[in-house]
Amino acid sequence: ATNRTFTMLKPDAIENGYAGKIIDMIIGAGFKIKALKYTRLTEEQAKKFYEVHAERPFYGELVEYMTSGPIIAAILEKENAVADFRTLIGATDPAEAAEGTIRKNYAESKGRNAVHGSDSDENAEIEGKFHFTAAEIF
Ligand code: CMP
Repeated sequence: ATNRTFTMLKPDAIENGYAGKIIDMIIGAGFKIKALKYTRLTEEQAKKFYEVHAERPFYGELVEYMTSGPIIAAILEKENAVADFRTLIGATDPAEAAEGTIRKNYAESKGRNAVHGSDSDENAEIEGKFHFTAAEIF
């Protein structure tokens, strides 16, 4: 069925000038942009967004990195959006990501990995609502 996923182009992707190339790959793979925003997370927002990782050793580093510069947040729609987007972005660690994936092409490291993709329909909904009001979704 057609469903939605949520993504963020992370600070490293923006800083390295890959935003256009990544968005082109996303559209080329058949995703429709339902919402899009260039923004910067506050520390409070980043902590809340990554709450599930609060006990992980990399949590502090993750929050610091995600607030280090602007991001692009988006809601995407496609058949099988969550799973297909995770295939398109590739493994968390770019060293393990498949050829032709966004992270293989554009990520720097496991931490600075260029792009986020929701891991379930439920989280896609929560994460989308975290960044967008109903009036910002088309
Ligand atoms: P993502 O899967 O979008 O959400 C959780 C993030 O935590 C992940 O991307 C990475 O950016 C980060 N992350 C996961 N594992 C590590 C790690 N071992 N060291 C640093 N950051 C990590």
